[in-house]
Amino acid sequence: MGYEFNEKVIEHFENPRNVGEIEDADIVETVGSPVCGDMLTLYIKLKDDKVEDVKFKTFGCGAAIATSSIFTEMVKGKTVDEALKITSDVVVDALGGLPEKKVHCSLLAPDAFHNAIEKYKKEHDPKEQ
Ligand code: FES
Repeated sequence: MGYEFNEKVIEHFENPRNVGEIEDADIVETVGSPVCGDMLTLYIKLKDDKVEDVKFKTFGCGAAIATSSIFTEMVKGKTVDEALKITSDVVVDALGGLPEKKVHCSLLAPDAFHNAIEKYKKEHDPKEQ
């Protein structure tokens, strides 16, 4: 069964940005979707509280690829606090919408990012321990 995806989603699916690994990443975080079981790994490199680089690999569907692609574009260069505001809603809006049944796919990248930053803060900030 097919879904109706808009052109922007299809463009990101066909030419996903920032796919791959970062060898010297500061954080590597993998999350799975409770809805479909698909997985995504996010590699993050931080510098001076900014997201210097970010890449992803996913076994998810086309919507997971498209949403992760635009997510990495949106958070790159932002401060960590700004990047944390890029929620799945923001991602879906930026893509011009997703079919209702595919909205859960847009949670993967923001969830991985949130988990990753939480872990990083715990490891690096003694106050958080
Ligand atoms: S159906 Fe699993 S991420 Fe889209």
